[in-house]
Amino acid sequence: MKISLPQDSRLMSEHFIYGVATASFQIEGSAASRLPCIWDTFCATPGKIRDGSNGDSACEHIDRWQQDVELIAALGVDAYRLSVSWGRVLHRDGSINIQGAQFYIDLLDELKRRNIKAFVTLYHWDLPQHIEDKGGWLNRETPYLFRDYADKISRLFGDRVYSYATLNEPFCSSYLGYETGIHAPGLAKKAYGRQAAHHLLLAHGLAMQVLQNNSPHSLNGIVLNFTPCYPQSADDADITAAKVADDYFNQWYIKPILDGAYPVLLETLDSQDRPVILDGDMDIIARPLDFLGVNFYTRAVYRHCPQQGFEQVPQSAAPKTDIGWEIYPQAFSELLIKLNDTYELPPIYITENGAAMADKCVDGRVDDPDRLAYYQSHLNAVHTAVEQGVNVKGYFAWSLMDNFEWAEGYLKRFGIVYVDYPSQTRTIKASGLAYRDLICSRRASS
Ligand code: NOJ
Repeated sequence: MKISLPQDSRLMSEHFIYGVATASFQIEGSAASRLPCIWDTFCATPGKIRDGSNGDSACEHIDRWQQDVELIAALGVDAYRLSVSWGRVLHRDGSINIQGAQFYIDLLDELKRRNIKAFVTLYHWDLPQHIEDKGGWLNRETPYLFRDYADKISRLFGDRVYSYATLNEPFCSSYLGYETGIHAPGLAKKAYGRQAAHHLLLAHGLAMQVLQNNSPHSLNGIVLNFTPCYPQSADDADITAAKVADDYFNQWYIKPILDGAYPVLLETLDSQDRPVILDGDMDIIARPLDFLGVNFYTRAVYRHCPQQGFEQVPQSAAPKTDIGWEIYPQAFSELLIKLNDTYELPPIYITENGAAMADKCVDGRVDDPDRLAYYQSHLNAVHTAVEQGVNVKGYFAWSLMDNFEWAEGYLKRFGIVYVDYPSQTRTIKASGLAYRDLICSRRASS
């Protein structure tokens, strides 16, 4: 089975960047050689992770990174998206941990040697625990600590980095981490979620200033996730419900960055739930981006409900991935087209897209036709959006390899490479081979 796109598609040009993505906590292991982070603490709290696991070993990437770069190269990709573990590169006092930093420098050098562009995310959820102990993203000091971290790292990495993203999915850090508590640090209060979101966005803006100074030649931006919100029916009440949900879950993060303002929904929140926003914050947040990273997996359907205004409607009959997310690629094109209609967008990179499937490795082979079909339909969806004028310049599969899927532990596999955890053997899945073949079949013209 193959993944194929129309030959004249922009996605078939050699200038379109294809990559694979990972994140530090999900693959690195070697927890003892870095500072503890909020996910270590969360994993150690009974009942938080479905299989009771943690990130102590994960994919042992710290020890196996050379083999993993071989794999990345074998997939034929143009780019690799990774994240830096804050607590591996800085000590508690904020000084550089030379050994930890050297790990990334060696990795980046090797990527460069192989002509693989490095897309580096500075924060993919693994906040050092000692910062959380002082309030984490609820403390206004944290964005300034993040700025200092971004400053030190971008000076150190020099020109090894093709692109920096400040944050990955601030929605998850704030809403899941501080408002519902299903992610670390596990706090659950609306006011916390809203304040954490504001501080994360402020951290992004402060780090953008630093990156633009220290690394003016890299593409500097942010990675946001979007779960488009659809009304259950054509009733006005349901349409309004979907719009409110969209403002709360999606626009809340992009609008401040691109328009310098929160959705008007902010004004309807109870006063105790509204974040503290100081004069000048919105200008810091709205610094121009070189690119916007878009992560897309699924959509959500809403109907009106009198209490909160909206409630999600489970799509019981719809096709789903192994993590229970509806497969609805049309929402991907519609999202990109709508974002392009609503905002003055910088160039877009799809920084994550992929599917969890219940894979089995049999006789050294992993057949994953459903994941392959997911990639086919979602790449088609990106193609459709590009045809409609959306400026998408690249696409990253999530993920390079199976890894620690947060609250799901190791139970959900998102990789295009299978990881047998006891032996740490990596096997390229059929979807990975098809992805490689697609990348190799691009035309060598504009
Ligand atoms: C979002 C996150 O960035 C990544 O860490 C996670 O594993 C995938 N999506 C799948 O849930």
